[in-house]
Amino acid sequence: MLKIENLTKAFGAVNAVDNVTIEVDRPMMIGVIGASGAGKSTLLRMLNRLETATSGTITVEGQEITGLKSADKRRWQRDCAMIFQQFNLVPRMDVVSNVLHGTLNQRSTLATMFNLYPTADIHRAIDILDRLGIAAHAAKRAEALSGGQQQRVAIARAVMQDPKIVLADEPIASLDPMNAQIVMDDLRRIHDEDGRMVIANLHTLDTARRYCDRVIGMRQGRVVFDGSPEQLTTGVARDIYGADASFSEAATSTSIDALEQKIPQRA
Ligand SMILES: Nc1ncnc2c1ncn2[C@@H]1O[C@H](COP(=O)(O)OP(=O)(O)OP(=O)(O)O)[C@@H](O)[C@H]1O
Ligand SMILES: [Mg+2]
Repeated sequence: MLKIENLTKAFGAVNAVDNVTIEVDRPMMIGVIGASGAGKSTLLRMLNRLETATSGTITVEGQEITGLKSADKRRWQRDCAMIFQQFNLVPRMDVVSNVLHGTLNQRSTLATMFNLYPTADIHRAIDILDRLGIAAHAAKRAEALSGGQQQRVAIARAVMQDPKIVLADEPIASLDPMNAQIVMDDLRRIHDEDGRMVIANLHTLDTARRYCDRVIGMRQGRVVFDGSPEQLTTGVARDIYGADASFSEAATSTSIDALEQKIPQRA
């Protein structure tokens, strides 16, 4: 389904992504982990063509992605929705309109200028919000919602595009543990129920283990681990993060249990 071959992105002398090869034969939920600067975001950004590869290829269902131009590139970006750490909503716009933005590159400039949406699209947007448990906030401005709710609006906007692949770049890094869990549950649901491939950059090991079918570990632009959550042992994780023997799993954890372990107990 997805084939990444010898993919490289150079920024000056640095290879942010360095000769990466990954093959995925069915829609899975994939977690990408690695230390800051490992190349996780650059990899995702090349997938949806926010960034152009220096060399190598990305093929999705037989279609080569790296060379797509203008209308073909926009069509691909619709098939490949992106979710960001900072939600990237239009803060002053209401929630439904933010979700309807997911259909933007399907509509004419004129319709967009005058904010004209087909009634069917509005109903579908509300259905998606309902499915994610936030339909009650549909008429509010996005900025009035909590971070967790805003990220769910961003997921709804992504689903509105009806994408084959959902890319999420650190989707829970700005959220508290409870909202992080809700957002990860939602991503898992759109994978399980809709059959969409989800690729998420995650900064915590326990989230990758708990939610993903497959984990890819990156270090200095290269893939240094590609396997199941069970294969992701503490030793392997230490290697991915380039840490020494003092490496603690709790240090990369967002779970409530692990956080409690990190807080010194009062006598
Ligand atoms: N636009 C850019 N121009 C120059 N260098 C860049 C650019 N984007 C990324 N880099 C460099 O590429 C490398 C990989 O960056 P990237 O953002 O992909 O890492 P990351 O794994 O997502 O890190 P983080 O966990 O901090 O988000 C880093 O060395 C970074 O400084
Ligand atoms: Mg990043």
